Amino acid sequence: MTTTRIDVITIFPDYFAPLQLSLVGKAMTEGIIDIRVHDLRDHTTDRHRSVDDTPYGGGPGMLMSPEPWGMALDAVRSAQQAPNQRPLLIIPTPSGEPLTQELAHRWAETDWLVFACGRYEGIDARVAQYYGDAKVCPDWAGVREVSLGNYVLAGGEVAALVIIEAVSRLLPGVVSNADSITDDSFALGAMADLVEGPSFTRPRTWRGLEVPEVLVSGNHERIAAWRAEQAQIRTQSRHLR
Ligand code: ADE
Repeated sequence: MTTTRIDVITIFPDYFAPLQLSLVGKAMTEGIIDIRVHDLRDHTTDRHRSVDDTPYGGGPGMLMSPEPWGMALDAVRSAQQAPNQRPLLIIPTPSGEPLTQELAHRWAETDWLVFACGRYEGIDARVAQYYGDAKVCPDWAGVREVSLGNYVLAGGEVAALVIIEAVSRLLPGVVSNADSITDDSFALGAMADLVEGPSFTRPRTWRGLEVPEVLVSGNHERIAAWRAEQAQIRTQSRHLR
């Protein structure tokens, strides 16, 4: 088994305490993933441990300076564990490409991910430019700027948590029932671009509401056809297609 290594650089390491819980926590204990959280301020050189500055050209807010990021990323890169590993740098930002299940699958097959969590108005654009340039940084696997959606969070930490959870549950051995991954909303294959339809458990009647008859029929073909139809209906009603 190869361990997936994940490094996170942030000015709020405490944000990542929930990774100890549940599926991801168990995957760490079992050695499926190795998550290391680093404080960006450990890579500052001034008395105030400052990480931000005003933007050139003016405008509201502060921007993260490139220098602490360069130092922190180089330090993470030099702590390579396995030979031939090249980290992929993921920068959560509302101006990135949308996160999809397909990206999560792709990153689940990548053995080293590094997350750069920006705060304020983001990170000086030269950081993504520098580490994404294969000629300048051949020992990196590139840079992906990703967005969780068309809204603005206070920083990249929550987005990194989301991406780590979406990727981790796809790693072999993290979710015990492999079918629950192939049946997921947006799963690759038959469910691509579809959300799952409704699901039910006992009791069969709850507050006057019945479980659909087909699900208790025992007829697996009818059940599969009903689920496929419900997935279509739900997907259309959510304007996802
Ligand atoms: N950082 C701030 N807002 C974000 C978003 N919507 N997605 C990813 N990272 C972010």
